[in-house]
Amino acid sequence: MAAMASARRLFSLHHRALARPLAAAAATIAVATPHRRGKHDTVTCKATGKTKAKAKAGNKGGERLQRRPLEERLKRRTRPAAAFDAGLYGRHGHAHHVPVLLGEVLAAFRRPRPLHSFVDCTLGAAGHSLAMMEAHLEMELFVGMDIDPTALEIGRGHIEAFLAGREANGGENDALMDTLRAYTHVRNFKYIKQVLGSVDESVAVGSSGVDDILIDLGMSSMQVNRSNRGFSVLQDGPLDMRMDPKATLRAEDILNSWPELEIGRILRDYGEESNWQFLQKQIVKAREMGGHSTGDLVKLIQRKCTISKGRQGWIKTATRVFQALRIAVNDELRVLEDSLHSSFDCLATGGRLAVISFHSLEDRIVKKTFLELIHGGEADDEEDDEDDLALPDIDDEDEPWFNQRVQGRNGIVLTKRPITPSQEEEKLNQRCRSAKLRVIQKA
Ligand SMILES: C[S@@+](CC[C@H](N)C(=O)[O-])C[C@H]1O[C@@H](n2cnc3c(N)ncnc32)[C@H](O)[C@@H]1O
Repeated sequence: MAAMASARRLFSLHHRALARPLAAAAATIAVATPHRRGKHDTVTCKATGKTKAKAKAGNKGGERLQRRPLEERLKRRTRPAAAFDAGLYGRHGHAHHVPVLLGEVLAAFRRPRPLHSFVDCTLGAAGHSLAMMEAHLEMELFVGMDIDPTALEIGRGHIEAFLAGREANGGENDALMDTLRAYTHVRNFKYIKQVLGSVDESVAVGSSGVDDILIDLGMSSMQVNRSNRGFSVLQDGPLDMRMDPKATLRAEDILNSWPELEIGRILRDYGEESNWQFLQKQIVKAREMGGHSTGDLVKLIQRKCTISKGRQGWIKTATRVFQALRIAVNDELRVLEDSLHSSFDCLATGGRLAVISFHSLEDRIVKKTFLELIHGGEADDEEDDEDDLALPDIDDEDEPWFNQRVQGRNGIVLTKRPITPSQEEEKLNQRCRSAKLRVIQKA
């Protein structure tokens, strides 16, 4: 029964709940449970802290993309114009995790006006958060969330150490410093409204909202590298893959008890695996042998793919199968879509939401939802926005790489094309290669 309930949940994806205004949502919520360490759930500290109106072309979407030569498609990706700052990565990257697109995230949130409040929905090892605190001495409210208590504990430790160090050494910056209230919460970011309501009544009840919000999707290196989480294709571990250790559904439940057709569906829709029908059959057949580890699953994929595709083939297939399972276990796509709406609701006027995604399914949702948010309605997923929207190219000295924007009545998509990592960053951190950053600003 549990498996069937999960299956129903899986296939009810994309039926997004209506986004409600922040005040209304907060009024219905019990106080969110803050992350607690000893008696403290708050760290309060002085912290040093060319207009081209194009006619809509008839030939749209996937067909057009497939025909477009690779070189031309790559040019459509935006690389940052700003110089790569190796020192920044040196200061905020470490063994737990190297933050991705760090310079670009800082640039996305850099404006002439002061930044008072910042929410990091995916705290992880706090690389992005610390860089933001370092760059914004004027920050007054920081909220960091992570669904994974182990990750949050590490991130919280880094923030505490950073703020203590700044307090000890920050005498000369006293004039710039403001009192920073910093909170961390073990919470799924889909509950952003509840969390903000519990830490700051004025954000929840008033119309002020927060200045900036970051969502850095996926897993951190510390999660992938721990074999007991079951995320890694290359290490044997339990078939778990839960981001939230208290959640009930594990990858093993899906593989061992979901109906065959539903296994095929997730391999096709969440793994984008072309050989999904064959693999679906093999997985169901293997149930009788009772495999219980990621190693067993990888061996099955290896046996079926090695002859035809070699090592690269089975690794790529296994990566797609793992992606499909992880998305299903954590309901990642629906959570993402809902959370983009909730996060946008939480922004102040002029506030920005930046999202880093790591695969095309996520990026497609971010792109489509951003357009829905600024236009206040449904966006056509298949539509090529280049042809759809009349856009001024902006030559902005402060934000040179936000040079193509999409204006709507509720806001602006600042990145018509996603920002991708520089070549220097790709050399430093291979994991960043698939990253895409999109940024939206509320009107
Ligand atoms: C790529 S890491 C973030 C790394 C972080 N930006 C840094 O610089 O260290 C993604 C984090 O998001 C967390 N996460 C994933 N899904 C989440 C969700 N729905 N709600 C809250 N946190 C989530 C993961 O546990 C992980 O720690």
